[in-house]
Amino acid sequence: MHCVRKVTDDLYWVGANEHRLHLFENIHPIPRGVSYNSYLLLDEKTVLFDTVDWAGCRQFLENIEYVLDGRPLDYLLINHLEPDHAGSIDEILIRHPETSIISNEKAFMLMHQFGFHIDGEGRDIEVKEGDTFSFGAHNVTFVSAPMVHWPEAMVTLDLTNGVLFSADAFGTFGAIDGHLFADEVPFQEEWLDDARRYLTNIVGKYGPHIQRLLGIAASVLDKIKIVCPLHGPVWRADENLLWFIDKYDKWSKYEPEEKGVLIVYASMYGNTEAAVMALASKLSQRGHNNYKVYDVSSTHVSYLISETFKYSHIVLASVTYNLGVYPPMLDYLHDMKALNLQKRTVAVIENGSWAPKSGDLIEAFLNNEMKEMTVLSGRVTINSSVNESAERELEELADTLVESLGEE
Ligand code: FEO
Repeated sequence: MHCVRKVTDDLYWVGANEHRLHLFENIHPIPRGVSYNSYLLLDEKTVLFDTVDWAGCRQFLENIEYVLDGRPLDYLLINHLEPDHAGSIDEILIRHPETSIISNEKAFMLMHQFGFHIDGEGRDIEVKEGDTFSFGAHNVTFVSAPMVHWPEAMVTLDLTNGVLFSADAFGTFGAIDGHLFADEVPFQEEWLDDARRYLTNIVGKYGPHIQRLLGIAASVLDKIKIVCPLHGPVWRADENLLWFIDKYDKWSKYEPEEKGVLIVYASMYGNTEAAVMALASKLSQRGHNNYKVYDVSSTHVSYLISETFKYSHIVLASVTYNLGVYPPMLDYLHDMKALNLQKRTVAVIENGSWAPKSGDLIEAFLNNEMKEMTVLSGRVTINSSVNESAERELEELADTLVESLGEE
């Protein structure tokens, strides 16, 4: 049974939704699923833009045969070679030996490394940035988008109707389940968190590369009518797209979306957790309610990373463990560094029954391993459980945070 949507009069979404995969890239939870988007253009020539993960291949093939309706498939255009999009190349070529592949030099190299397109001799068409290609009425041009998300990634702009095939850019976790356009779903309320989690965990490290792509997009923004990413809904060029571009701009410049506090704690027996709850209540008592509290041991780090990109202030509260930082907290710190997170204001709470060390170690990590992190004065030290002295320090930390947030 086919499941397709019309993007324009002659362009169809022919991708697949994924609900049975628990971990994207075998690391990031996707409880709302994910979509693998592929698009089929019916011009004088027929053109398939990217394929789908092997898991969605059967649906994908049925969709293509339905839309082609007996026509040959003239071209397969590959913007991104990661297997969640390239996994079905060989299945397409087996069914359509008439198809030529259009892509760039690095993508062809990766295709062969992965063992895709193994009989490709003679039907590869190599393009590079700035080249144009005509399919009949539709003329396209190619823009390289290195490291958004892999080095071979490129985006393709249809100069005829303003459709931008944006590869991983502007994608999101979440299966689309029959919806196509972002304005058909409550994106801001129900999708934004997953869009941020997708972007920051997958491409967060490469902010400057995203900035380059945004700069190119801005220079042709008046020509862009529709943005077709490889995951999640399609964007029409309206105020919603501008709002989403602004989010991308902030995330890729490592600027927080909101003035607010992310509180992440590592607690073994509930005493550090109790300190964090006391701090949260003190913030609320002071009229500051834009904060979130997470247990680092029970929250997948991809969610923590997403929230860290969202908020301006972070409170890290950790027990000492083997004279070091509690391992899940240390993993979170390492992930922040790996994803190039920067420009945040951080407060530290430490706990240790005989030799509290986590505060020194966390501060040293923030100051020496990360960029532009401001550590607030007034670290709170707890010896086993909160006593009167630690209670006073928590009061002072609440004042310091509120002052730093500019909400005295
Ligand atoms: Fe969705 Fe980088 O692949």
